[in-house]
Amino acid sequence: MGFNTCLVGLQWGDEGKGKIVDILTESFDIIVRYQGGSNAGHTVIVNGEKFVLHLIPSGILRKNKCCVIGSGVALDPHQLLEEIDELRKKNIEVGDNLRISEIAHLVFPYHKKLDELSESEKGDEKIGTTRRGIGPCYTDKMARTGIRVADLYHPEYFKQRLKKVVEEKNKIFVRLYDAEALSWKDIYDAYCEYAEQIRPFVCNTVVFMDEAIKARKKILFEGAQGSLLDVDFGTYPFITSSSVTAGGAAVGTGISPRQIHKVLGIMKSYTTRVGSGPFPSELNDALGEYLRKKGGEYGATTGRPRRCGWFDAVSVKHAIMVNGADSAVLTKLDVLDEQKTIKICVGYKFGDKVYDLFPVDLAARAECQPVYKEVPGWQKDTSKMRDIRDIPSQAKSYINTLEKILGIKVQMLSVGPDRGQVVNLA
Ligand code: GDP
Ligand code: IMO
Ligand code: MG
Repeated sequence: MGFNTCLVGLQWGDEGKGKIVDILTESFDIIVRYQGGSNAGHTVIVNGEKFVLHLIPSGILRKNKCCVIGSGVALDPHQLLEEIDELRKKNIEVGDNLRISEIAHLVFPYHKKLDELSESEKGDEKIGTTRRGIGPCYTDKMARTGIRVADLYHPEYFKQRLKKVVEEKNKIFVRLYDAEALSWKDIYDAYCEYAEQIRPFVCNTVVFMDEAIKARKKILFEGAQGSLLDVDFGTYPFITSSSVTAGGAAVGTGISPRQIHKVLGIMKSYTTRVGSGPFPSELNDALGEYLRKKGGEYGATTGRPRRCGWFDAVSVKHAIMVNGADSAVLTKLDVLDEQKTIKICVGYKFGDKVYDLFPVDLAARAECQPVYKEVPGWQKDTSKMRDIRDIPSQAKSYINTLEKILGIKVQMLSVGPDRGQVVNLA
């Protein structure tokens, strides 16, 4: 019998993954990030104290658990060291409980600069990236011009490779963008310093995880971003540059897909999106603004206001399919507490046609109109609910309707940002 679980966001990110990982960590031994980088922002609130994790798995907040940054993560060492500092300041132990893959690709200042420049150049067409250098870092990985953590510990090799890469990037900065060149030497010196500081955490995580599996340790894979931002199955090109979906957990850790025994989807009771791209159920009105305020929908990484709208069952159904999600957690139910009626987007209308399957054609997604099913709201405070018997009947009915449309069981509800604000339904 297996027990390793992969937790993934079923929307466009910010579903509340960090909070749920923190809760589930209690029943796991190892928590591993397999993709993304510091573009992620996972907020966890423990007894009123707020933690925002970008690179380190949210499991770090619990004692006697091991956290792993897998090979699929785009690692920004400067950001990582800052995060470690912040955690230690809050008395969270970061030491032997953190492992970093030696084959993870590094994010360099030229990646961030490229991210900035290419976004600015795109004008209205911009993706609205977090400007953390994620796209350019993964581009280099695939183009075979990336530099990995282990390279830092071979100074002469690192120097020669970095020099060459910076030379190339500088041609792009100067000739294409009319921008300033970067100094390879400054980058080299800074990264040699980071190398020493992160040295205690760096190891062969593939072997580490393999041994853990053989020792019957329980592993929780912490997905970042959301399935609709997946490089293949998301709303391309308005996506992030990694494999967000459950399949990415194998690729981004070196663990066999056969060792992932359960896929748990996290979905918010409504929808949000940061950055550009189609969003059929978006609310550009007072209600959208209300959800943003009540839900605190401002980016944990960039502070940008998140676009808000009704729950989009068409895209979530697609996300459930591409992940093979077994069950789901429904978060932020409390944000809908005051609504008289609640809408669920069950189809996309484009011309005379209504799609209930996620259309792959971008134009259809960008211009289509949502088709809604409307259900009664509960107009009661759910934030103090802890027991299945406390759930108002209309809220139960909303959850059941979602379960029916999506063909998935909701196993847990989240009704507030704090660790304790959950209701187990299973
Ligand atoms: P993640 O990226 O998926 O981890 O999600 P974020 O942390 O970026 O965004 C979720 C936000 O909602 C955070 O500020 C959480 O503290 C907060 N949150 C999580 N679950 C709930 C919930 O059930 N109710 C409310 N009101 N807030 C929640
Ligand atoms: P978490 O893990 C929400 C979005 C960006 C942009 C697109 C590409 O907190 O859910 P990138 O910087 O990755 O190249 O930007 O992806 N994006 C996120 N949106 N939550 C995230 O992470 C995101 N990470 C990236 O806003 O639209
Ligand atoms: Mg987030």
